Amino acid sequence: MRTTLCDLLGIEVPIVQAPMGGAGCPALAAAVSQAGGLGMLALSWHPPKAVRAAIRQTRALTDRPFGVNLVLAFPQEERFAVCLEEGVKLISFFWGDPAPYVARAHAAGALVASTVASAGEARRAAAAGVDILVAQGWEAGGHVMGEVATLPLVRAVVAAAGARPVLAAGGIADGPGLAAVLALGAAGAWIGTRFLASEEAAIHPRYRELLLAADETSTVHTSLFDGGWADAPHRVLRNATYDRWEAAGRPASRARPGEGDVLATSAGRPMRRYASTTPGPDAEGDIEALSLWAGQGVGGVHGLKPAGAIVREIAQGADAVLRALAERLET
Ligand SMILES: Cc1cc2nc3c(=O)[nH]c(=O)nc-3n(C[C@H](O)[C@H](O)[C@H](O)COP(=O)(O)O)c2cc1C
Repeated sequence: MRTTLCDLLGIEVPIVQAPMGGAGCPALAAAVSQAGGLGMLALSWHPPKAVRAAIRQTRALTDRPFGVNLVLAFPQEERFAVCLEEGVKLISFFWGDPAPYVARAHAAGALVASTVASAGEARRAAAAGVDILVAQGWEAGGHVMGEVATLPLVRAVVAAAGARPVLAAGGIADGPGLAAVLALGAAGAWIGTRFLASEEAAIHPRYRELLLAADETSTVHTSLFDGGWADAPHRVLRNATYDRWEAAGRPASRARPGEGDVLATSAGRPMRRYASTTPGPDAEGDIEALSLWAGQGVGGVHGLKPAGAIVREIAQGADAVLRALAERLET
């Protein structure tokens, strides 16, 4: 199961573990890379020293390629410089214009990926010299750039991308999902939610339990969890905080029920209602009322597994589906 993406990145299977803010960590990225996929670190909010430490920690766990993601809604110059100094293979950008970074990344030998939500954005990113396009459909978990679903979006982005590989993101959680986006012309899949239910993901056990119990109807696309990152739509598990806000008539920010309540603490720091935050393993309090990022593909997430096993299962599953389809069409 190799595509152009595998040759470009030096990986064995066309599976990228999507960057996932606080839920990602060196152990997760390294496990995915060790299994032949590409692990990604999401380092947008780390101090520059911690960016360097996370990259080095990942490199100590795997000698295979991995990438770093930076969200351009926040200043990233210093973190970007550290990534270049550390010789990161792939730098991915989200929520902003990658153009100012491309030439410097290429000069340092790094490849650049950029997340897009329309064919127009894909054309602009390609014109800026971006190497890999990530087409994020609105099924996706976490922050969601656009409102086009993965199926129509991937078709449109592939058509706009020319020879550049396109990764499909949003709603892909298993082998059939990977096979489906390969059929659409994608060179691979950028998978988030499935890896939240891995042994390595840095999330609270209760959050993981809720993910495993959820189905395809359990998420909502909303802008509710805006503390720290305003006007940025996202997809989360529907929870008590969402239900209470809806029952109150969906009031605007600052007039919502329980605004500012401290729901939990993490390393002594308060986690407030409506904050854009990820409950980590050490959080204590009302975990279920926090922002629980998840995509619609959560309905296809079954079983807590090591990340490497998830990579192998998805790759083998896609291979089996494609072979079975070919046989079915012949008979
Ligand atoms: C918990 C979580 C955190 C995320 N944080 C980031 C991030 O820091 N940077 C980014 O580019 N995308 C982020 N995303 C979006 C993912 O990269 C990806 O687009 C999405 O997970 C794909 O959809 P899926 O969850 O259905 O697989 C996040 C997603 C989740 C679930």
